[in-house]
Amino acid sequence: VTDHTSFDIAHLGNVELLTPTFGRSLWFFQDLLAMRVVAEKGDSVFLRTWDEYEQYTIKLTASDAAGVGRTSVRASSQEALERRVAAIEATGLGEGWVDGEVGTGPTYLFRDPDGHSFAVYYETERYEATDDKPALKNQASAFPGRGVNARRLDHINFLAKDVEANGRFLADALGMRESERIRNDDGKFAAWWFHFSLKSYDIVYSDDWTKHGNRLHHVAFATDTREDILKAADIFLENEIYIESGPHKHAINQTFFLYVWEPGGNRIEFANAGARLLLDPDQPVVEWSQEERKKGQAWGMKTIESFHTHGTPVVGS
Ligand SMILES: [Fe+2]
Repeated sequence: VTDHTSFDIAHLGNVELLTPTFGRSLWFFQDLLAMRVVAEKGDSVFLRTWDEYEQYTIKLTASDAAGVGRTSVRASSQEALERRVAAIEATGLGEGWVDGEVGTGPTYLFRDPDGHSFAVYYETERYEATDDKPALKNQASAFPGRGVNARRLDHINFLAKDVEANGRFLADALGMRESERIRNDDGKFAAWWFHFSLKSYDIVYSDDWTKHGNRLHHVAFATDTREDILKAADIFLENEIYIESGPHKHAINQTFFLYVWEPGGNRIEFANAGARLLLDPDQPVVEWSQEERKKGQAWGMKTIESFHTHGTPVVGS
């Protein structure tokens, strides 16, 4: 249901990724994706995509295991931030206020029922290009013209022990609206897609077969075109990055996609999702059955087995 609080969160702000192979992961994001390092703090490096209007997109943190750290979302206004914090506190999963990092203002921390760490903020410092000034003033920084040229963060897909509980939490806490979902024959949701704005998805939960908790399925970056994704596949091939699946087109939400594992093991998607927008405020949720999902992706490619089993951190069942 769309109401005036449905746009309290403007978009996904940034994501912290944990890696056991810090140097190699940094090379992946900096050299292959053409991201720029803007800050370093302790065991972390903060990187930005070229059209990120805020200071940073990914906080890369050295860790014993791969996985996801904190996922931050930006509220639409101070009033919207306060409304969301009240809603989060009502769920009992709020953790309190902290100072923001690298240009981010006051930040409220919380967790979803699965244990994933989240943050919400409103105040932010816009990125000011220096030696990377763009030719056009309606762009955050210069187009790198090298590597994959990841333009912006697109979405995050978590694994969860209970897809429905976490989806309902997002709807209550952040005012997110559902766009699509997969319902298995036993009635349970295998995956659930949610969106903040006109994009058809920003946060997704998929069933975690290990029932471990606090795991990542993938983080996705947007490119300008489908061709960029074909070129990305060649770049990853040349650089011995494991290509797990694609390029192909998703049936669900119709994204053109490529999945690779960055050197630390986290699954990273390159997505061209912009063709399909949900302009209709009364857009009914699209539900897919187990049978429909078995047909595979849009053009018939069967979904690879590891897509249902690999997540980070890697754990046993
Ligand atoms: Fe995705």
